[in-house]
Amino acid sequence: MLNKKIEEALNAQINAEMWSAYLYLSMASYCHSLGQTGMARWFEVQFKEEQDHAKILFNFIIQRNGNVTLTAIDAVPTTWDSILHVFEDTLVHEEGVTKLINDLFALTTQENDYATQSMLKWFIDEQVEEEENAQTIIDNLKMINDNGYGLYMLDKELGARAYVQAAPLANSTL
Ligand code: FEO
Repeated sequence: MLNKKIEEALNAQINAEMWSAYLYLSMASYCHSLGQTGMARWFEVQFKEEQDHAKILFNFIIQRNGNVTLTAIDAVPTTWDSILHVFEDTLVHEEGVTKLINDLFALTTQENDYATQSMLKWFIDEQVEEEENAQTIIDNLKMINDNGYGLYMLDKELGARAYVQAAPLANSTL
């Protein structure tokens, strides 16, 4: 059984993950508007991954006999100044999510909730990857420095990204 503080924090994290999904779908739309279809595809994969993150938390709350409370998702930005800016925003956003996950983890220590803490370990590892991915693309974009051929090649590379369902959902019956 989940205690109320943890239940509220997990529900807030579901909302944050759904906001992330919404943000990445908006970024995909921005990339489409510039004709960068590979980058748009990369953000569409992000969109699906964020929904997975929300579903992992949803499943966990149900498993622990808690209550899922889905709240309104705030509006997201709809435009950026440049492709570089959209990926810089991605990194800033993921750093913010890392802080949310770290705070949640700290709360589980405070509340002696080690089952939730164990579940959150997957998210801690995932955040390392999320930040690294965004940073690598930013580094590439800075190296390319608006070179048309470079942008074309990076767009092709990012468009090859395939969605893979998050591991904690693979064996779930929920
Ligand atoms: Fe759900 Fe991008 O972290």
